[in-house]
Amino acid sequence: MRKISLLLVSFLFLACVQNSSTDNKVEEVQGEWIKGDADEKLEIIEEHFQGFGKAMWEVSYRYKELYVAGMDENWEYAEHHVEEMEEAIELGLQRRPKHAKASEHFLQVAIPEIEKAIEAKNRDLFEEKFEELRQSCNACHMMRDHEFIKIKTPKDYYSVVGEEK
Ligand code: HEC
Repeated sequence: MRKISLLLVSFLFLACVQNSSTDNKVEEVQGEWIKGDADEKLEIIEEHFQGFGKAMWEVSYRYKELYVAGMDENWEYAEHHVEEMEEAIELGLQRRPKHAKASEHFLQVAIPEIEKAIEAKNRDLFEEKFEELRQSCNACHMMRDHEFIKIKTPKDYYSVVGEEK
């Protein structure tokens, strides 16, 4: 009887070991071009997401669209761009947290202020707050050693969005 139970215990033990070893097995997945070991693959993905410059690409597009939206008094479209711009900066900060301190004024003052003008549907106030936003862009560029990127008011910019004339 003792022999049998010993046999049973060792059998159960073996079954467990085998089971856990298949559970821990990591399935290696290779993409079309994302290849290599886990670290190499992560590195490739991170590189393709890029850093803060990628966020700025999006932010500068939205900055121009926001201006035209305000000038056209297309307030819903303006609000859309403010929200997306804020998110683009926040995602950029996840990738490059070193810019967080310098973007505080932009996120905590410039964005909420322009939102107030949009909410009020007030074109004059919008122009005033847009100018403050522009200065906030440039202040950050100065703080982050990119003062050569001088943002101006996009006066001659035409959006593809709007009423057909
Ligand atoms: C964190 C503070 C910060 C704020 C706020 C900020 N920027 Fe930038 N911006 C940067 C930094 C840093 C770079 C350089 C990024 C890089 O290439 O690594 C940059 C780069 C740029 C570039 C060049 C992007 C390219 O093609 O490489 C543009 C255009 C730009 N910003 C526009 C804006 C506009 C418009 C605003 C405001 C609506 C703004 N930025 C607000 C920090 C900021």
